[in-house]
Amino acid sequence: KKRSLSLIQPTSIPTLGNYLGAMKGWASFQDDFDTIFGIADLHSITVRQDPAKLRAQTTQLYAMLMAVGLDPQKSILFVQSHVPQHSQLGWILNCYTQFGELNRMTQFKDKAAQHADNVNAGLFTYPCLMAADILLYQADVVPVGADQKQHLEITRDIAERFNGVYGNVFTVPEPYIPKAGARVMSLQNPTSKMSKSDPNPKGTVHLTDEPNVIMKKFKSAITDSEMSVHYAEGKDGINNLMTIYSAVTGDSFETIEHDFSGKGYGDFKKAVGEAVVAELEPVQKRYNELLQDKKYLQECWTQGADTASRLANRTLTKVMKKVGFLAK
Ligand code: TYM
Repeated sequence: KKRSLSLIQPTSIPTLGNYLGAMKGWASFQDDFDTIFGIADLHSITVRQDPAKLRAQTTQLYAMLMAVGLDPQKSILFVQSHVPQHSQLGWILNCYTQFGELNRMTQFKDKAAQHADNVNAGLFTYPCLMAADILLYQADVVPVGADQKQHLEITRDIAERFNGVYGNVFTVPEPYIPKAGARVMSLQNPTSKMSKSDPNPKGTVHLTDEPNVIMKKFKSAITDSEMSVHYAEGKDGINNLMTIYSAVTGDSFETIEHDFSGKGYGDFKKAVGEAVVAELEPVQKRYNELLQDKKYLQECWTQGADTASRLANRTLTKVMKKVGFLAK
Protein backbone atom coordinates (compact mmCIF):
# COMPACT_ATOMS: atom_id res chain seq x y z
CA LYS A 1 0.00 0.00 0.00
CA LYS A 2 1.08 3.54 -0.69
CA ARG A 3 1.31 5.91 2.21
CA SER A 4 -0.75 9.07 2.61
CA LEU A 5 -0.12 11.75 5.22
CA SER A 6 -1.56 15.12 6.16
CA LEU A 7 -1.59 17.51 9.12
CA ILE A 8 -3.81 20.36 10.26
CA GLN A 9 -3.06 23.25 12.63
CA PRO A 10 -4.96 23.56 15.93
CA THR A 11 -5.22 27.34 15.63
CA SER A 12 -9.03 27.39 15.95
CA ILE A 13 -12.07 25.22 15.42
CA PRO A 14 -11.72 23.86 11.87
CA THR A 15 -13.69 25.60 9.14
CA LEU A 16 -15.86 24.34 6.31
CA GLY A 17 -12.82 25.10 4.12
CA ASN A 18 -10.60 22.74 6.12
CA TYR A 19 -13.33 20.14 5.91
CA LEU A 20 -14.11 20.30 2.20
CA GLY A 21 -10.52 20.94 1.10
CA ALA A 22 -8.95 18.27 3.26
CA MET A 23 -10.63 16.45 6.15
CA LYS A 24 -13.68 15.13 4.29
CA GLY A 25 -11.46 13.30 1.83
CA TRP A 26 -9.06 11.95 4.45
CA ALA A 27 -11.47 9.34 5.80
CA SER A 28 -11.83 7.74 2.37
CA PHE A 29 -8.06 7.42 2.03
CA GLN A 30 -8.08 4.93 4.90
CA ASP A 31 -9.22 2.03 2.72
CA ASP A 32 -6.69 2.40 -0.08
CA PHE A 33 -3.66 3.86 1.69
CA ASP A 34 -1.55 3.41 4.72
CA THR A 35 -2.73 6.61 6.44
CA ILE A 36 -1.13 9.03 8.88
CA PHE A 37 -2.85 12.19 10.15
CA GLY A 38 -1.57 14.70 12.64
CA ILE A 39 -2.17 17.93 14.46
CA ALA A 40 0.51 20.50 13.62
CA ASP A 41 0.88 22.19 17.00
CA LEU A 42 4.56 22.99 16.40
CA HIS A 43 3.51 24.97 13.34
CA SER A 44 0.78 26.78 15.25
CA ILE A 45 3.20 28.62 17.55
CA THR A 46 4.65 30.55 14.61
CA VAL A 47 1.76 32.82 15.58
CA ARG A 48 1.36 33.69 19.27
CA GLN A 49 -1.10 31.32 20.99
CA ASP A 50 -2.76 31.37 24.38
CA PRO A 51 -1.39 28.21 26.12
CA ALA A 52 -4.63 27.02 27.75
CA LYS A 53 -6.58 27.70 24.58
CA LEU A 54 -4.02 25.87 22.44
CA ARG A 55 -4.24 22.80 24.70
CA ALA A 56 -8.05 22.82 24.57
CA GLN A 57 -8.11 23.32 20.80
CA THR A 58 -5.67 20.48 20.26
CA THR A 59 -7.89 18.12 22.26
CA GLN A 60 -10.97 19.34 20.39
CA LEU A 61 -9.31 18.99 17.02
CA TYR A 62 -8.23 15.44 17.86
CA ALA A 63 -11.86 14.61 18.65
CA MET A 64 -12.96 16.33 15.44
CA LEU A 65 -10.55 14.27 13.34
CA MET A 66 -12.10 11.14 14.78
CA ALA A 67 -15.60 12.57 14.32
CA VAL A 68 -15.07 13.08 10.57
CA GLY A 69 -14.23 9.40 10.33
CA LEU A 70 -10.53 8.97 11.01
CA ASP A 71 -10.23 5.71 12.89
CA PRO A 72 -7.26 5.22 15.24
CA GLN A 73 -7.43 1.50 14.44
CA LYS A 74 -6.92 2.20 10.74
CA SER A 75 -4.77 5.34 10.79
CA ILE A 76 -1.96 6.74 12.84
CA LEU A 77 -3.51 9.80 14.53
CA PHE A 78 -0.92 11.84 16.37
CA VAL A 79 0.05 15.22 17.76
CA GLN A 80 3.20 16.62 16.15
CA SER A 81 4.88 17.85 19.37
CA HIS A 82 4.60 14.32 20.82
CA VAL A 83 6.98 13.05 18.16
CA PRO A 84 10.36 14.80 18.64
CA GLN A 85 11.71 13.52 15.33
CA HIS A 86 9.74 16.29 13.55
CA SER A 87 11.78 19.01 15.25
CA GLN A 88 14.98 17.04 14.76
CA LEU A 89 14.55 16.48 11.03
CA GLY A 90 13.14 20.01 10.72
CA TRP A 91 16.45 21.42 11.93
CA ILE A 92 18.46 19.31 9.53
CA LEU A 93 16.27 20.35 6.59
CA ASN A 94 16.71 24.01 7.57
CA CYS A 95 20.32 23.49 6.62
CA TYR A 96 19.37 22.09 3.22
CA THR A 97 16.98 24.88 2.25
CA GLN A 98 18.02 28.22 0.84
CA PHE A 99 16.99 31.61 2.20
CA GLY A 100 15.88 32.65 -1.28
CA GLU A 101 13.54 29.69 -1.65
CA LEU A 102 11.83 30.42 1.65
CA ASN A 103 11.62 34.08 0.80
CA ARG A 104 9.47 33.24 -2.22
CA MET A 105 6.75 31.48 -0.20
CA THR A 106 3.48 33.37 -0.63
CA GLN A 107 2.17 32.15 2.74
CA PHE A 108 5.19 33.67 4.47
CA LYS A 109 4.62 36.98 2.75
CA ASP A 110 0.92 36.96 3.67
CA LYS A 111 1.49 35.98 7.28
CA ALA A 112 4.37 38.40 7.73
CA ALA A 113 2.07 41.19 6.57
CA GLN A 114 -0.75 39.98 8.87
CA HIS A 115 1.49 39.66 11.94
CA ALA A 116 3.97 42.46 11.32
CA ASP A 117 4.79 42.64 15.05
CA ASN A 118 5.95 39.00 15.18
CA VAL A 119 7.78 37.99 12.00
CA ASN A 120 9.74 35.25 13.77
CA ALA A 121 12.30 32.82 12.36
CA GLY A 122 9.85 29.92 12.77
CA LEU A 123 7.36 31.61 10.48
CA PHE A 124 10.10 31.86 7.88
CA THR A 125 11.34 28.25 8.15
CA TYR A 126 7.82 26.83 8.49
CA PRO A 127 8.09 24.96 5.14
CA CYS A 128 11.18 23.05 6.36
CA LEU A 129 9.24 21.68 9.31
CA MET A 130 6.36 20.81 7.02
CA ALA A 131 8.79 19.02 4.69
CA ALA A 132 10.08 17.10 7.73
CA ASP A 133 6.50 16.07 8.63
CA ILE A 134 6.06 14.55 5.21
CA LEU A 135 9.51 13.13 4.50
CA LEU A 136 9.91 11.45 7.91
CA TYR A 137 7.19 8.97 6.97
CA GLN A 138 8.19 8.49 3.33
CA ALA A 139 4.69 9.64 2.32
CA ASP A 140 3.70 9.07 -1.31
CA VAL A 141 0.61 11.28 -1.31
CA VAL A 142 -0.35 14.37 0.69
CA PRO A 143 -4.08 15.27 0.53
CA VAL A 144 -4.39 19.05 1.04
CA GLY A 145 -6.32 22.10 -0.11
CA ALA A 146 -4.98 24.23 -2.98
CA ASP A 147 -3.33 26.73 -0.60
CA GLN A 148 -0.72 24.11 0.37
CA LYS A 149 0.48 23.46 -3.18
CA GLN A 150 3.54 25.69 -2.94
CA HIS A 151 4.57 24.00 0.32
CA LEU A 152 4.37 20.63 -1.39
CA GLU A 153 6.54 21.92 -4.22
CA ILE A 154 9.28 23.07 -1.88
CA THR A 155 9.04 19.73 -0.02
CA ARG A 156 9.65 17.94 -3.30
CA ASP A 157 12.58 20.24 -4.10
CA ILE A 158 14.16 19.64 -0.67
CA ALA A 159 13.70 15.86 -1.00
CA GLU A 160 15.19 15.77 -4.49
CA ARG A 161 18.13 17.91 -3.47
CA PHE A 162 18.88 15.75 -0.44
CA ASN A 163 18.53 12.56 -2.50
CA GLY A 164 20.85 14.09 -5.08
CA VAL A 165 23.59 14.46 -2.49
CA TYR A 166 23.11 11.31 -0.39
CA GLY A 167 21.28 8.75 -2.57
CA ASN A 168 17.65 7.73 -2.23
CA VAL A 169 16.81 8.71 1.32
CA PHE A 170 13.37 10.29 0.87
CA THR A 171 10.27 9.38 -1.12
CA VAL A 172 9.34 12.41 -3.23
CA PRO A 173 5.66 13.08 -2.38
CA GLU A 174 2.77 14.09 -4.66
CA PRO A 175 0.04 16.48 -3.54
CA TYR A 176 -3.56 15.32 -3.85
CA ILE A 177 -5.90 18.28 -4.27
CA PRO A 178 -9.65 17.51 -4.49
CA LYS A 179 -11.62 18.54 -7.60
CA ALA A 180 -14.42 20.20 -5.65
CA GLY A 181 -13.72 22.17 -2.49
CA ALA A 182 -9.96 22.70 -2.83
CA ARG A 183 -10.43 26.42 -2.30
CA VAL A 184 -13.49 27.42 -0.31
CA MET A 185 -13.88 31.20 -0.15
CA SER A 186 -15.22 33.50 2.57
CA LEU A 187 -19.02 33.87 2.42
CA GLN A 188 -18.63 37.61 2.98
CA ASN A 189 -15.66 38.25 0.74
CA PRO A 190 -15.67 35.54 -1.94
CA THR A 191 -12.38 36.65 -3.48
CA SER A 192 -10.46 35.65 -0.36
CA LYS A 193 -10.02 32.22 1.19
CA MET A 194 -12.33 31.09 3.99
CA SER A 195 -9.98 31.19 6.93
CA LYS A 196 -9.83 30.58 10.66
CA SER A 197 -8.48 34.08 11.19
CA ASP A 198 -11.05 36.06 9.16
CA PRO A 199 -11.94 39.18 11.19
CA ASN A 200 -15.51 39.01 9.85
CA PRO A 201 -17.05 35.98 11.64
CA LYS A 202 -19.97 35.81 9.20
CA GLY A 203 -17.65 34.80 6.39
CA THR A 204 -16.46 31.57 8.00
CA VAL A 205 -18.49 28.46 8.84
CA HIS A 206 -16.99 26.47 11.70
CA LEU A 207 -17.62 22.75 11.98
CA THR A 208 -19.14 23.21 15.42
CA ASP A 209 -21.59 25.98 14.39
CA GLU A 210 -25.21 25.32 15.40
CA PRO A 211 -27.62 24.65 12.50
CA ASN A 212 -29.36 28.03 12.88
CA VAL A 213 -25.98 29.82 12.84
CA ILE A 214 -24.98 27.96 9.67
CA MET A 215 -28.29 28.85 8.01
CA LYS A 216 -27.87 32.51 8.96
CA LYS A 217 -24.34 32.65 7.54
CA PHE A 218 -25.47 31.16 4.23
CA LYS A 219 -28.54 33.39 4.02
CA SER A 220 -26.36 36.47 4.37
CA ALA A 221 -23.70 35.21 1.93
CA ILE A 222 -22.60 37.81 -0.62
CA THR A 223 -23.80 37.07 -4.18
CA ASP A 224 -24.39 39.36 -7.17
CA SER A 225 -27.25 41.26 -8.78
CA GLU A 226 -27.87 38.85 -11.67
CA MET A 227 -30.34 36.44 -10.05
CA SER A 228 -29.24 33.39 -12.00
CA VAL A 229 -27.53 30.34 -10.50
CA HIS A 230 -24.72 29.52 -12.90
CA TYR A 231 -20.95 29.27 -12.72
CA ALA A 232 -19.21 32.14 -14.49
CA GLU A 233 -16.31 34.50 -14.22
CA GLY A 234 -17.06 37.46 -11.97
CA LYS A 235 -19.75 35.56 -10.03
CA ASP A 236 -17.40 34.78 -7.15
CA GLY A 237 -20.10 34.49 -4.49
CA ILE A 238 -22.31 32.14 -6.52
CA ASN A 239 -19.30 30.18 -7.77
CA ASN A 240 -18.28 29.62 -4.16
CA LEU A 241 -21.77 28.54 -3.09
CA MET A 242 -21.94 26.17 -6.07
CA THR A 243 -18.53 24.77 -5.13
CA ILE A 244 -19.66 24.16 -1.56
CA TYR A 245 -22.93 22.58 -2.68
CA SER A 246 -21.13 20.39 -5.19
CA ALA A 247 -18.47 19.28 -2.69
CA VAL A 248 -21.13 18.36 -0.15
CA THR A 249 -23.75 16.70 -2.36
CA GLY A 250 -21.55 15.37 -5.16
CA ASP A 251 -23.80 17.10 -7.75
CA SER A 252 -22.04 18.50 -10.82
CA PHE A 253 -22.31 22.20 -11.71
CA GLU A 254 -24.57 21.29 -14.66
CA THR A 255 -26.96 19.46 -12.36
CA ILE A 256 -27.00 22.37 -9.92
CA GLU A 257 -27.65 24.89 -12.73
CA HIS A 258 -30.47 22.70 -14.02
CA ASP A 259 -32.05 22.14 -10.60
CA PHE A 260 -31.99 25.82 -9.67
CA SER A 261 -32.86 27.35 -13.03
CA GLY A 262 -35.66 29.87 -12.59
CA LYS A 263 -35.18 29.89 -8.84
CA GLY A 264 -33.90 32.87 -6.84
CA TYR A 265 -30.71 33.18 -4.85
CA GLY A 266 -32.74 32.95 -1.62
CA ASP A 267 -33.80 29.39 -2.49
CA PHE A 268 -30.29 28.43 -3.51
CA LYS A 269 -28.63 29.81 -0.39
CA LYS A 270 -31.19 28.00 1.74
CA ALA A 271 -30.47 24.73 -0.09
CA VAL A 272 -26.71 25.13 0.35
CA GLY A 273 -27.16 25.89 4.06
CA GLU A 274 -29.41 22.87 4.52
CA ALA A 275 -26.97 20.58 2.71
CA VAL A 276 -24.13 21.75 4.96
CA VAL A 277 -26.25 21.36 8.11
CA ALA A 278 -27.19 17.81 7.08
CA GLU A 279 -23.57 16.95 6.31
CA LEU A 280 -22.29 18.25 9.64
CA GLU A 281 -25.05 16.92 11.86
CA PRO A 282 -23.63 13.41 12.35
CA VAL A 283 -20.09 14.83 12.62
CA GLN A 284 -21.15 17.17 15.43
CA LYS A 285 -22.98 14.38 17.23
CA ARG A 286 -19.89 12.13 17.24
CA TYR A 287 -17.68 15.07 18.16
CA ASN A 288 -19.75 15.87 21.25
CA GLU A 289 -19.76 12.23 22.30
CA LEU A 290 -16.01 11.85 21.85
CA LEU A 291 -15.30 14.96 23.91
CA GLN A 292 -17.09 13.32 26.86
CA ASP A 293 -14.32 10.75 27.12
CA LYS A 294 -10.99 12.57 27.41
CA LYS A 295 -9.32 9.47 28.81
CA TYR A 296 -10.08 7.54 25.63
CA LEU A 297 -8.83 10.41 23.46
CA GLN A 298 -5.62 10.51 25.47
CA GLU A 299 -5.11 6.76 25.06
CA CYS A 300 -5.51 7.20 21.32
CA TRP A 301 -3.03 10.05 20.97
CA THR A 302 -0.49 8.30 23.19
CA GLN A 303 -0.69 5.21 21.02
CA GLY A 304 -0.57 7.35 17.87
CA ALA A 305 2.59 9.09 19.09
CA ASP A 306 4.30 5.77 19.89
CA THR A 307 3.59 4.31 16.48
CA ALA A 308 4.49 7.51 14.64
CA SER A 309 7.70 7.88 16.58
CA ARG A 310 8.82 4.35 15.74
CA LEU A 311 8.28 4.97 12.02
CA ALA A 312 9.81 8.43 12.08
CA ASN A 313 12.91 7.13 13.80
CA ARG A 314 13.77 4.88 10.88
CA THR A 315 14.07 7.81 8.52
CA LEU A 316 15.74 10.08 11.07
CA THR A 317 18.42 7.50 11.91
CA LYS A 318 19.18 7.07 8.24
CA VAL A 319 19.41 10.82 7.67
CA MET A 320 21.68 11.35 10.68
CA LYS A 321 24.03 8.70 9.42
CA LYS A 322 24.05 10.16 5.90
CA VAL A 323 24.93 13.67 7.05
CA GLY A 324 27.76 12.35 9.20
CA PHE A 325 26.53 12.44 12.81
CA LEU A 326 28.30 10.07 15.20
CA ALA A 327 26.30 7.04 16.39
CA LYS A 328 25.70 6.78 20.17
P1 TYM B 1 -4.14 24.37 7.76
O1 TYM B 1 -4.21 23.96 9.19
O2 TYM B 1 -4.16 25.83 7.43
O3 TYM B 1 -5.33 23.70 6.95
C1 TYM B 1 -5.59 22.30 7.01
C2 TYM B 1 -6.05 21.81 5.65
O4 TYM B 1 -7.22 22.54 5.23
C3 TYM B 1 -7.01 23.07 3.93
N1 TYM B 1 -7.73 24.35 3.82
C4 TYM B 1 -8.63 24.65 2.88
N2 TYM B 1 -9.09 23.96 1.83
C5 TYM B 1 -10.02 24.54 1.06
N3 TYM B 1 -10.51 25.79 1.26
C6 TYM B 1 -10.07 26.54 2.29
N4 TYM B 1 -10.55 27.77 2.49
C7 TYM B 1 -9.09 25.98 3.16
N5 TYM B 1 -8.44 26.43 4.27
C8 TYM B 1 -7.61 25.42 4.65
C9 TYM B 1 -5.51 23.25 3.81
O5 TYM B 1 -5.11 23.27 2.46
C10 TYM B 1 -4.99 22.04 4.56
O6 TYM B 1 -4.93 20.91 3.73
N6 TYM B 1 0.73 23.86 6.68
C11 TYM B 1 -0.52 23.14 6.86
C12 TYM B 1 -0.45 22.08 7.95
C13 TYM B 1 0.65 21.09 7.78
C14 TYM B 1 0.71 20.03 6.83
C15 TYM B 1 1.91 19.32 7.12
C16 TYM B 1 -0.12 19.63 5.78
C17 TYM B 1 1.76 20.99 8.58
N7 TYM B 1 2.52 19.93 8.17
C18 TYM B 1 2.29 18.21 6.36
C19 TYM B 1 0.27 18.51 5.03
C20 TYM B 1 1.45 17.81 5.32
C21 TYM B 1 -1.59 24.12 7.27
O7 TYM B 1 -1.33 25.16 7.83
O8 TYM B 1 -2.87 23.67 7.07
